[in-house]
Amino acid sequence: MSGNDEPTLPFLRACRGLLVDYTPIWFMRQAGRYMAEYRAIRQKYTLLQICAQPELATEVTLQPIRAFGFDAAILFADILLPLIPMGIDLEFAAGEGPVIHNPVRSLADVDRLRPVEPRDSLAHVMEAVRLVRRALDGKTPLIGFAGAPFTLASYVIEGGPSKNYLKTKRMMVEQPDTWDRLMAALAELVSDYLIAQIEAGAQAVQLFDSWAGTALGPVDYREHVLPYSKRIFERIRLTGVPAIHFSVGASTYLPLLKEAGGDVIGLDWRTPIDWGRAQLGDGVAVQGNLDPAALFYPRQELKKRICAVLEQASSQPGHIFNLGHGILPETPVDNVRAAVEMVHEHSQRRS
Ligand code: CP3
Repeated sequence: MSGNDEPTLPFLRACRGLLVDYTPIWFMRQAGRYMAEYRAIRQKYTLLQICAQPELATEVTLQPIRAFGFDAAILFADILLPLIPMGIDLEFAAGEGPVIHNPVRSLADVDRLRPVEPRDSLAHVMEAVRLVRRALDGKTPLIGFAGAPFTLASYVIEGGPSKNYLKTKRMMVEQPDTWDRLMAALAELVSDYLIAQIEAGAQAVQLFDSWAGTALGPVDYREHVLPYSKRIFERIRLTGVPAIHFSVGASTYLPLLKEAGGDVIGLDWRTPIDWGRAQLGDGVAVQGNLDPAALFYPRQELKKRICAVLEQASSQPGHIFNLGHGILPETPVDNVRAAVEMVHEHSQRRS
């Protein structure tokens, strides 16, 4: 693997903290319902059908690259996908989000989960990675991704999205052996899955621990979550491919996210970039963090807020522009196009 050579693409350079000609930009959830091209495909196929067919997943991955010229593509899939071969009965119910019909609540439930070989049971995902790489032709890098153990565990235990994560937290505290086995199984699944994506051609990976920061404070994170996420980053590090670590609401413990691992820490939209960097210290790049709502504001206000993010990040290299969480389904596409142009224009190095 050539992960240690100095990269030329701006996104991969920024992941390594290297100087760039302009700040690279991509958006979390950049392929999706705000695009008419995506909605047209979704009229004919379910989300899981798109993910299961490499040609469709490839087409959807490329849509935002063609339309807006983002500096990185993210594979079209979902964090919950690798749970299916484990034996999790997953459905995306219209209007409700994900539903898991056989939630995991006991040690016996964990013991029923099957070991997964992603190269076999998730071969369609690896094929999509290869097809996207071929289509992008070295011009735009491809990000692979997975959900982190805590965020996956929260869906598996609650059976769907949750407001207070009570079942998850009670297992964590009241059934420590069950928690350990579940989190260890998820950490192994996620490591194997990300490494398979890297072998298939992913040039960076992002670990989404979206709900860890929302659900937990630093003490619980350190004791019950960090050790499992750390196992994943230790294995990814050996590949030489950069890793991005993202959570929402974790600003009170950014150093713990860094300790768990990642070459880049994703900052949510509540966290000023310069403040976040001061918490993190040297040795990591940052990604973020425009408020997704800013894409609905008048153009002048959007520009002001984009320039504010760039300004906060301008003191040193190692910044990837992104939203502070996923793009919202009603986002006006013209403002997405404008945002990409503004970031490129206003981040040009004056040297
Ligand atoms: O970023 C991308 O463009 C790649 C694709 C991607 C999807 N999901 C496709 C998707 C990525 C990176 C994800 C990650 C994901 N999925 C996360 C972590 C990121 C975050 O937002 O915090 C989470 C928590 C999930 C689980 C999930 N998937 C939920 C809660 C939902 C329903 C809510 C919703 O937005 O509808 C999904 C469905 C989903 N995954 C959609 C897409 C485009 C919308 C489904 C549709 O087209 O009907």
